[in-house]
Amino acid sequence: MEIKEIIKTFDLTKVYGKETAVDHLNFAIREGEIFGFLGPNGAGKTTTLLMLLGLSEPTYGRAFVAGYDPVREPLEIKKVVGYLPENVGFYHDLSPVETLQFIGELNELPQRELRKRIDELLTMVGLSKDRYKKVGAFSRGMKQRLGIAEVLIKEPKVLFLDEPTLGLDPEGSRDLIELIKRLNQEKGITVLVSSHNLQQVEEISHRVGVMIMGRLIAVGSMEELGREKLGVGEGEYSLEELYHLYFEEEANERVRTHN
Ligand SMILES: Nc1ncnc2c1ncn2[C@@H]1O[C@H](COP(=O)(O)OP(=O)(O)OP(=O)(O)O)[C@@H](O)[C@H]1O
Ligand SMILES: [Mg+2]
Repeated sequence: MEIKEIIKTFDLTKVYGKETAVDHLNFAIREGEIFGFLGPNGAGKTTTLLMLLGLSEPTYGRAFVAGYDPVREPLEIKKVVGYLPENVGFYHDLSPVETLQFIGELNELPQRELRKRIDELLTMVGLSKDRYKKVGAFSRGMKQRLGIAEVLIKEPKVLFLDEPTLGLDPEGSRDLIELIKRLNQEKGITVLVSSHNLQQVEEISHRVGVMIMGRLIAVGSMEELGREKLGVGEGEYSLEELYHLYFEEEANERVRTHN
């Protein structure tokens, strides 16, 4: 089967003052894959997502998402990409049903279709019984669940999830991981997920990318990264081990180049 690239970057770069947050990034995400985006705090993951969404302008370089240029066609991007940010914000006075109703109307979904979808989504994310509570009284995990329902309401082709399981209880985390897998398998949604939970990323990702100080130092499937790093077959290492190996190598490299 032909591999189609749905996201591609060309030397994508973001400079804040003296600091280069994203440094000549070149990578591609394939249509229909789950891509795990790894890297320490401040590596440039969120900045990359914001540029791909057209919410932050690149200092240099370009990107394409589902055939659109985020700088020139940000509205087109918003139609096809669902984005769950690190911190989801809601109107405190609205209930989940009202929140989804509002978002659905913004996206011009027909009323009947919208009502059906709201029901399905609230069940899917486990918020059915809290459907009429005010969101202001929600716990972090409940907000996260509502955030997922919100990004799914417009049936996106691509999902950007920034630390989606942060703050969820183990059950909620598990549910969300299963949901991401299902959306990918059943609806063919391409997923770009950033996370510090290496075990989860390993479980769901077809390929992963490791970003450190704005540079992508490794991209590939677990098997490819394992072969590159350790030269052994699949199943003999964890993403956790690989990640730390890449990390140490990068740190050593930096010490060398600074001396
Ligand atoms: N609006 C901004 N203004 C100035 N600097 C910024 C801004 N946003 C991000 N940065 C800087 O860019 C770098 C990358 O930040 P970014 O948020 O992309 O990291 P991240 O990989 O998402 O980290 P985390 O895992 O903590 O979420 C950091 O050094 C950060 O301080
Ligand atoms: Mg971030």
